[in-house]
Amino acid sequence: MSTPPVGRLRWTDVPILLRNRLETALGAAVTDAVTPAGGFGHQLAAALTLADSRRFFVKASPTDDPLTAANLHEGAVLGSLPAGAPAPDVVGIHHAAGWTAVVIAHLDGPHPDFSPDSSDPGQIWALLDKLTSSPAPRPYMEAVASTPSGAAGLHGWDQLLADPPGDLEPADRDRLREFAELEAAWPALAHGDRIVHGDLRADNMVHDRTQGVIFVDWAHATTGPACIDAVSLAPQLVLAGHPPQDIAQLLNEHPASATSPLAATAFLAALTGHWHRNARRPAPPGAPGLRAYQHRAAAVGTTLLRLRIS
Ligand SMILES: Nc1ncnc2c1ncn2[C@@H]1O[C@H](COP(=O)(O)OP(=O)(O)O)[C@@H](O)[C@H]1O
Ligand SMILES: [Mg+2]
Repeated sequence: MSTPPVGRLRWTDVPILLRNRLETALGAAVTDAVTPAGGFGHQLAAALTLADSRRFFVKASPTDDPLTAANLHEGAVLGSLPAGAPAPDVVGIHHAAGWTAVVIAHLDGPHPDFSPDSSDPGQIWALLDKLTSSPAPRPYMEAVASTPSGAAGLHGWDQLLADPPGDLEPADRDRLREFAELEAAWPALAHGDRIVHGDLRADNMVHDRTQGVIFVDWAHATTGPACIDAVSLAPQLVLAGHPPQDIAQLLNEHPASATSPLAATAFLAALTGHWHRNARRPAPPGAPGLRAYQHRAAAVGTTLLRLRIS
């Protein structure tokens, strides 16, 4: 059994009753459990290998842990996505010993390569176009109906405007009011009927050896305007080495963001404000690297925002 990244629960941390329940449900003993690198969660998220060589992916946590609600939401979403959506199937949900496990079909491969040399970004933009080009189907709407959109509530420039942090770049400080106004427009534009993954980054995708790129970690899935995932993806590509000008151009042209440019700009402002604000908060336990990532994301997000509004 491999050592998980810092802060992650391991398979052996799961109560034996739940481990036994899973082995019974899956029909064979677990012979290996590998926790993939990446992600910021603290729950168990592991690829299990069974005695008969089949593999499954499982997420588990104590039932009263807030991550359990997120895992259950993800299970419901995976069971409701339209055929052909880039997502793994849900296999089962199990409760035992005060814990809950969601079992998901295993994907075999690395995270996609977001760098400019890779064909993965092109494939991902095509998947996003397909995913958002028509309204979400009814089962999906029902699965996400009681889950508020996390993206709709993002903000941060308002707080930076009220109390500008000393380490804010002078160029950002000069435009604080403008950024805060753009962000303030976002909540009214945040509604829509499209499937929104809500947390698209390389570590929430797997380039499966047979299926190509598949989106995982649907815990934040909701409905909204088509631009949310496209705008979220854009700074990730700049962080991976794409020139900001190229990505700004792509956002101008991609159907998911080109059809609602005002919403796309307002959401980019809200997202970057959220990153700037959170990057300056004390680090939460069990999520090493999160604040440093938010600082980097805030910087490239603001560069993209400037390119959109200059
Ligand atoms: N179905 C799957 N098959 C194989 N690996 C997966 C699967 N789903 C997720 N992963 C891998 O596990 C990691 C953590 O899973 P994820 O669903 O993102 O959980 P978390 O909420 O903890 O970030 C992902 O970054 C990815 O590398
Ligand atoms: Mg994740």
